[in-house]
Parts: sequence; C-alpha cells; structure tokens
Amino acid sequence: MLTYDAVIFDLDGTLTDSRPGIYACTEYALKKMGLPVPPEDTLRRFLGPPLAESFTKYCGMTEEQASYATDLYRERYIPIGWKENSVYPRIRALLSALKERGAYLAVATGKPEHTSVEILRYFGLLQYFDKVAGPTPGDLHADKGMLIRRVLPEGQKAVMIGDIAGDIKGAQDAGVDSIAALYGYGNREETLARRPTHAAETTQALCDLLCPDMPAPKGYFIALEGGDGCGKSTQGKALAERLAQFGYTVRRTREPGGCPIAEEIRKIVLAKEDGGMCAETEALLFAAARAQHVKEVILPAVKNGEIVLCDRFVDSSLVYQGIARGLGLDWVREINRVAYREGVPDVTLYLRMDHEAAMARRLAVSQPDRIEKAGDSFHARTEAGFEQLYREAPDRFLTVNAAQKPEEVTEEIFGKLFDRMTGEGVL
Ligand code: TYD
Repeated sequence: MLTYDAVIFDLDGTLTDSRPGIYACTEYALKKMGLPVPPEDTLRRFLGPPLAESFTKYCGMTEEQASYATDLYRERYIPIGWKENSVYPRIRALLSALKERGAYLAVATGKPEHTSVEILRYFGLLQYFDKVAGPTPGDLHADKGMLIRRVLPEGQKAVMIGDIAGDIKGAQDAGVDSIAALYGYGNREETLARRPTHAAETTQALCDLLCPDMPAPKGYFIALEGGDGCGKSTQGKALAERLAQFGYTVRRTREPGGCPIAEEIRKIVLAKEDGGMCAETEALLFAAARAQHVKEVILPAVKNGEIVLCDRFVDSSLVYQGIARGLGLDWVREINRVAYREGVPDVTLYLRMDHEAAMARRLAVSQPDRIEKAGDSFHARTEAGFEQLYREAPDRFLTVNAAQKPEEVTEEIFGKLFDRMTGEGVL
C-alpha cells in the first residue's frame, strides 16, 4: 500500500548527506581567495541553496566574486568533493520498496542536473528514478517549483520531500503535498513555518510515512580473509567507510577478538614470544574466542540489520591450523562447528597475494607476532591453503588481486561486494 503514487525527492540533505564535500570545497574556495572561513553554523547555510547566493549572502561577495568563488569550489568538487558524500540509512531500501510497489520516482534538486545524475549513478541509486531534474547550463536560476513541475507526472497523487524551506515552498508552487525531511540541513523552524503537509524526523520515519509495509533491514555477515600482509586491515577500514557511505549500518570487528573475552584470548594466542603452545591448544583457543564473538557480537548485529565486516573468520583456522599446522581440515571443522553454529558468513572476501611479497610488506610495518614468525614454508602453506579452500567452494568467495594499489583493491572488491549484496536484496 502506497501513501503517494509519485514521490519526488530533493538530493542534498534528503537522499544524501553531502556535508563533508560541501564544507571542504567551500573552505578550499575561500582560502584560495585569501578570505576567512566562516564558523560552522554559517557554513551550514551553504547546504541547500545555490552556491553563488550563499557566497554573496554570507561572505559579503559581489556577484562577480561569487561567480569566481563558485569556479574555485568546482575545481575541488569535480575531482573529489562529490564523492565525499553518503547515502542516508534506509534510503536505498525505501527507493527499492517504492519502486517494487509501482511508484513513480523522481529527483528535483538545486544541484546541477549533470552532477546530480553522476552522484546518483555512483551511489547505485539512479536506477530507481524515472526522472531527474536540476538546473542545466541554460537555466542556472531555475526555481524549485519549476524543477518539480518538470518531473511531475499527470494525474498521480504526488509528494515532494525536501529538507529546506525552499523545497516546501517549491512543492506548494507546483501544487503538490510536501514532507519536511527534518534530518537534513534545513533550519527546522524556517522549514516548519512553511507548513509542510508532513514532517519526518528520521529516514525511518520517512519510510513509515511513504511505505508502511516495508520490510525490516536485512543484516549481512562478511568475512575478510587472506595471508599475513595482504592488506586486510587497510582494506577493512576502506570497505567499512565505503559501505557506510552507501547507506549501510556497519559493524567492523576482528578475529581473534572483537569482544572483551575474545580479546583476552587474543593476547595469549598472538603473544610475541613462543611459549611452546601446541597446535591443538592454538586451534582450540581460536575456536573459543570465536564462540564468544559469534554469540556476543556477530549474531546480534546481523539480527539487528547491520552489516558485519569481520577481519578473519573460520577460514583462517582451516588454513593456519588445519593446513599450515597440519591438524587436518576435518578436525578443525569439527571444533569450529560447535563454536559458530549458525554464524556462517554470507560472503568471504579473499585478498589474494603471493606470500613472499605479502610478508615483506607486513614486516615493513611493525614487529611480527608468534604466528607471523612461523617461517616462510609455513606462510607458503597458508597461501596454498586459501587457494585450496577457494577451489573447493568458489561461490562462497569474492576475490581480488591484493598486489594492486590499495585504492584499486578497494574499488574492485567493493564493486563486487555491492553487486552481490544488492543482488541478494541487502539494501
Ligand atoms: P592479526 O594481527 O590480526 O594479523 P592480520 O592483520 O594478518 O589478520 O593476527 C591474526 C593472526 O592470527 C594471523 O597471523 C592469522 C592468525 N589466525 C589463525 O592462525 N587462526 C585463526 O583462526 C585466526 C582468526 C587467525
């Protein structure tokens, strides 16, 4: 059941949070002009209205200076600033649910149309929209009402959602209902004083208003695996950031560890000195830490609709203890089945890399732990071990050549992960 058949969204402050990019580019332009950067509550006013207007209003510029400042702003915005943006949580799921139920969806934004389309494409949102309207080079002064009318379909019950007073006024000019997105940047009093038809404090409230029967968010469990030095920590951080920018609620964690008891076990099992620990003890300690971590952290987070990104999981035990230490896959599988029960990763990201190059990279960074000191033939066995697990069940994994530049690795593996998640309805 849909509340409205046609839903028109503003972009900045409604679908995406573009604040970091906008602030950084505004500061860049002002510094280049040798002007002081205004305080945050003034910068905040740059979010929403046309840029040149804000430069004249808040920085005392002439029209000519404001146009120059806008050019400088774009100098940083075009290569970098537009990606410093994030989709608000639940928005992707909302758009998908509305589309599935037959709604007409459009964007009417004050941001140049070409840039808006690029942003929507980059964040994987463009596919949901029937139309996108923003100022084009010929009509930079198009007002919101005009833009809304450009995308408005005939004879459907329509609503415009936006975070600033200008969006609400635009909706009224175009003769449609409006929803104030109070989670955006608009001044709350000014926006409400315009008397929008409805107001939403959060994106969840917006979902409840527009699509009351929307399903709850789907959680997802991602494991990140690879030999020592393959760049997992760097990639884990970059992937967590990227997932959050794409609107997901991310819980980053690691093994062994991830919760107080498992972190204590980590200290024993990854001690710098070799205290004569036998392979069986080592394997059981990893499994014990895992049992606690799965029960205490991973399963509750997935149940809560979060995306869990875990640095290493049971494949590390299979490879390091089962294969490299020679305990055998069956025995390690057996003790771990008890440890993680239904906590099986939905997908495992495998960072593939030659073990010698990976270890050289690893040792350049800090002192090795007990396992990292295990020697070259041990690490050759871990590399072969991961390859063996991959060959046995390739569908469980997404792989990437981890010897590439870190940004290239992130780009490639995130692309594959995002396709897999959206394909499985994890929005
Ligand atoms: P860590 O410092 O987290 O290194 P990395 O960044 O390479 O993950 O150390 C984890 C070490 O523990 C790593 O050498 C692999 C090993 N390990 C196992 O041997 N079995 C396991 O089950 C897990 C989770 C890790």
